[in-house]
Amino acid sequence: MTRPNVDLCVTLGRIAMRNPIATASGCSGYGEELARFYDLSRLGAIVTKSITLEPREGHLPPRLIETRAGMLNAIGLANVGLDLFLREKVPALAAHNVPIIVNVAGSTRDEYLQVAAALDAEPRIAGIELNVSCPNVKEGGIEFGIDPQALRSLVEAVRKRVTRATLIVKLSPNVTDIAVTARAAVEGGAEALSLINTLRGLAVDPWTGRPLLTNVTGGLSGPAVKPVALYMVRRVWQEVAGPRGIPILGLGGVQFVEDVLEFLRAGATAVAVGTANFVDPETGPKLADGLKQALEKLGCGSPRDLVGAMDLAK
Ligand SMILES: Cc1cc2nc3c(=O)[nH]c(=O)nc-3n(C[C@H](O)[C@H](O)[C@H](O)COP(=O)(O)O)c2cc1C
Repeated sequence: MTRPNVDLCVTLGRIAMRNPIATASGCSGYGEELARFYDLSRLGAIVTKSITLEPREGHLPPRLIETRAGMLNAIGLANVGLDLFLREKVPALAAHNVPIIVNVAGSTRDEYLQVAAALDAEPRIAGIELNVSCPNVKEGGIEFGIDPQALRSLVEAVRKRVTRATLIVKLSPNVTDIAVTARAAVEGGAEALSLINTLRGLAVDPWTGRPLLTNVTGGLSGPAVKPVALYMVRRVWQEVAGPRGIPILGLGGVQFVEDVLEFLRAGATAVAVGTANFVDPETGPKLADGLKQALEKLGCGSPRDLVGAMDLAK
């Protein structure tokens, strides 16, 4: 087989990525930590920690523990808040020549709208990723992300304020059928979907009975969640995203180049790396390099050739 010239470029909504590898929200702050290890322009995009209107301290420690095949976290959306983020973190990140996607969280609809509108007004921000797995305090404590009506209406309202940046909605896996919430997000105006966020979990000290996290419950991530994430990416790609041409940013346990190939084949256009950064902070650029070689080996000229490509013949 002749080896093709591989072009790793993909587009997520209107975001041009030089390769399909991004960071996952919350696992590398605002980029400074990773910039100590490598040139961030080796990534396809950087996704920041969730930003809220006001600064947040998050939960008291312990807020992160290791599990047998991953991690359980309940950070509590600790972040510097919108003003400081725009004033200090955006200029620092913009120096790195990598598309910036800002993850947005809120406790109320108004908070999402205010934060999203302010970010849309900052031209150095390429994308806004809505984290809809937070409690909706004003409307009775449910998560926007698990109620299709609430989600659709939130995304519709945000869409009216976000006209420049690409709007991505990050789906929660804590639902019966993720195709239902995916459809709601797309009908509301999402241009891309990212999935999955963490799976709700619990860890208890077997001898004292005390929960190991101060918040009691947490979100599971890492290798343990990869098959769940792959299944959900496949389902969303088949039922909602594929037919409408909506790109998927797949995440959940991505660590090795084979994981990237699996996510592409399940239906993702790009992937994001979260927990694996705690094992090796250089995972992102190593995956980009490894993907080029893997695609050459497969005789593919582009990661796009693999999107959704599973062999289901009996
Ligand atoms: C320590 C930690 C903090 C996280 N913080 C956020 C966050 O602020 N916003 C968000 O949308 N997702 C957050 N996530 C979820 C990740 O972005 C990702 O969806 C999830 O961890 C699955 O990917 P992974 O297995 O590669 O970590 C966090 C995950 C971890 C482990």
